Amino acid sequence: MNLEDFIGKAVEEIRTQAGGEKVVMALSGGVDSSVCAALASQAIGDRLVPIYVDTGLMRKGETERITRLFGDLPLHIVRAEERFFTALQGVEDPEEKRKRIGEQFIRVFEQEARAVNARHLLQGTIYPDRIESQGGIKSHHNVGGMPLSIAFSRIIEPIRDLYKDEVREVAGALGLPPEIQHRMPFPGPGLAVRVIGEVTRERVAVVREANAIAEEELVERYRPWQCFAALLGKGTGVKGDVRIHGWIIAVRAVNSRDGMTADPLEIPFSDLVRIGSRITSEIPSVARVVYDITPKPPATIEYE
Ligand code: XMP
Repeated sequence: MNLEDFIGKAVEEIRTQAGGEKVVMALSGGVDSSVCAALASQAIGDRLVPIYVDTGLMRKGETERITRLFGDLPLHIVRAEERFFTALQGVEDPEEKRKRIGEQFIRVFEQEARAVNARHLLQGTIYPDRIESQGGIKSHHNVGGMPLSIAFSRIIEPIRDLYKDEVREVAGALGLPPEIQHRMPFPGPGLAVRVIGEVTRERVAVVREANAIAEEELVERYRPWQCFAALLGKGTGVKGDVRIHGWIIAVRAVNSRDGMTADPLEIPFSDLVRIGSRITSEIPSVARVVYDITPKPPATIEYE
């Protein structure tokens, strides 16, 4: 792929498709939506309105990061934590969780899109998203995957034919900062798919902290395709001579090309032990840490 050509054509296509109207998009801060925002900003300037929804299921420091990185765009930040946790109350089934998050996301997004009077929707769907959705493997929560009651006259998908590594090359060519270019994928439903069973504020707070530690320890040192922590359930432990019923955290780190298959990273045991001991000592309610050695297939990368 010739990067300059791709960028030129994508910008032109967005400009033509936008046709002088306002365009909204969901900006998560991942590489896909950031590349789309940069392309669209070149194409239509302030007529692009990126919307960031803080679902309460985002990684540590994410909302601050978005503000820092995209403060120059007319960015709408919507704090919607309350409604997401309410919608997830009592829900244990993974697909039902995804569905409810998708629904809330759509409702919040519609509300904002209406408020700014946008005619078109732009989204960062990439090639593997389309393939996996067609195969019915999971319901994706890119905005177009859900029924929108708002009638956009057009859906613009500038990177629909690209693989993830190609999106990263485009990010580099667009001059986006390396922290965006090399950012690991993060699932649309956020930390909810990294909590097995019901999603509660407490569980999300625990997995968010554990995830931040896993990222701190693994990203720079190993540059994995993706790494994170998930909360599996509870088990017994002993802390300060007292038996506790504490959380079990799984650490997962994989290499992959496009997320369709993946191999676990071979991490020296001493590093794993350090990660485990950081997680159990920095998060009092965690009793146990395990490292996931399963490739995809048979496991998926995420837990739900
Ligand atoms: P799985 O868990 O299916 O994930 O092996 C493959 C890749 O996709 C990411 N993922 C998602 N990305 N919306 C997304 O945009 C989603 O609902 C979603 N679920 C999983 C996952 O993090 C991995 O990189």
